[in-house]
Amino acid sequence: MAVLKQLPVDAFPRDFAWGAATAAYQIEGGWDMDGKGPSIWDTFCHAKGRVFKDQTGDVACNSYQLWEEDLKCIQQLGLTHYRLSFSWSRLLPDGTTNYVNPKGVTYYNKVINDLIANAVMPMITLNHFDLPQALENRGGWKSPEIVEFFDSYAKFCFETFGDRVKLWITVNEPYVCAKLGYEDGLHAPGLKEPGTSVYLVGHNMLRAHTRAWHSYDTHFRHLQGGKVSIGLNSDWAEPLDPDCPEDVAATQRYMDFILGWFACPVFCTGDYPESMKSRIQAKSLQFGFSEGPRLPEFSENELSPLGTADFFALNYYTSRKVKDTSSHPSELSFTGDQGAEGVTDPSWPVCGVSWLAVVPEGLHKLLNYIKETCNNPAIYITENGFSQIGPVELEDTDRCQFYQNTLQEVSKAIRDDGVDVRGYFAWSLLDNFEWADGFSVRFGLFHLDFSKVELKRTIYRSGREYAAVISRHRTKLEKT
Ligand code: GAL
Repeated sequence: MAVLKQLPVDAFPRDFAWGAATAAYQIEGGWDMDGKGPSIWDTFCHAKGRVFKDQTGDVACNSYQLWEEDLKCIQQLGLTHYRLSFSWSRLLPDGTTNYVNPKGVTYYNKVINDLIANAVMPMITLNHFDLPQALENRGGWKSPEIVEFFDSYAKFCFETFGDRVKLWITVNEPYVCAKLGYEDGLHAPGLKEPGTSVYLVGHNMLRAHTRAWHSYDTHFRHLQGGKVSIGLNSDWAEPLDPDCPEDVAATQRYMDFILGWFACPVFCTGDYPESMKSRIQAKSLQFGFSEGPRLPEFSENELSPLGTADFFALNYYTSRKVKDTSSHPSELSFTGDQGAEGVTDPSWPVCGVSWLAVVPEGLHKLLNYIKETCNNPAIYITENGFSQIGPVELEDTDRCQFYQNTLQEVSKAIRDDGVDVRGYFAWSLLDNFEWADGFSVRFGLFHLDFSKVELKRTIYRSGREYAAVISRHRTKLEKT
């Protein structure tokens, strides 16, 4: 029996966005084709010992050459929206507008035009982890210069594609990029600089986003009428022991250090959460760190991040129970500053990767939390998914159940709690290059056989059932 068919579609608004998401480095391949410049992910993967079995995104799903196969997948699902990212260095090989790669422009024009011809609305992420290597060589996200480079790139994209693209995300998951790339060294550029660079990188991403949002607002909005946001990921967190005040406080810190870090400046106060400011300062004192504030301050002379999002772009995957670790001995580090540890509840199933405990009701709670703490924004769930590790079944019933439960929770948030959810993007359209896990972890609604050059796309049962939900929703609309 198809589980997703039981989903009541009534709760979803008429113009609900039914989407799927991908990112350039994870699907495109063609890493050095037609004038593309290298990105930090090309460099990271080409160095040995970084990624599962030293796999790379050199070819990935070869979407650069097989875009039309992706389009067929999108049509088969009946998506109303498709979220993809631009490869910055495919458009601007050295990261700057000094030279524009015409073949990159042609590629994305074709993708966008084909989507629109099929009544699928594109949502474009300007930077999904793959910073141009040429800019990394000039200091990358750690350098304040990056704000100018990003703004020029964003303006170039608005100018070139904004007549057709109406939904933009500036930076995807600044938390993940800063934490895994500069604190833990697990993602590109692979730096391990605990307790310092992570905040600087996050700050510059926020400043870059702010500049780009203002550029859109000033120069493009009145002509193009689109919307711009920043892609924020968050776990949902609850205290391990709800009766322990330290765990309760640690849970708030856990949320503040992941979601509040960016949501608070953009949606609430224009500044970082108090818990971050006070903990980081106290820890700096404790460690005798005297090279200036580790958490940068927002300057009065700069544009404020407050109000720089036209919707809330949320990536949700998992939940945690949180215990207080604020008095545990630690090195100078992000985790030490946070003073909180998230663990999984033994009752939660884990899918594929150990970090991904499957907790659909966590999304429901998180949606309510965002409604309450971020001034009831319009929310797009821009990523959410369920992974499998090989050997995988095309009859992926667990994943079908996951989508059923998740969409049920989203429908409850809309119907029962009045959360303004505008859309849902499954991660991911295709099995793809899952960063440091290479091709071992599969999130796709379509299966790919990475051992064969054809890279044939085959729909999973979860893809068929997701398509059935979308089609039922559309049919219902036609009748009313
Ligand atoms: C997100 C990321 C995606 C995808 C997903 C699944 O953090 O934005 O690119 O890989 O995680 O792990």
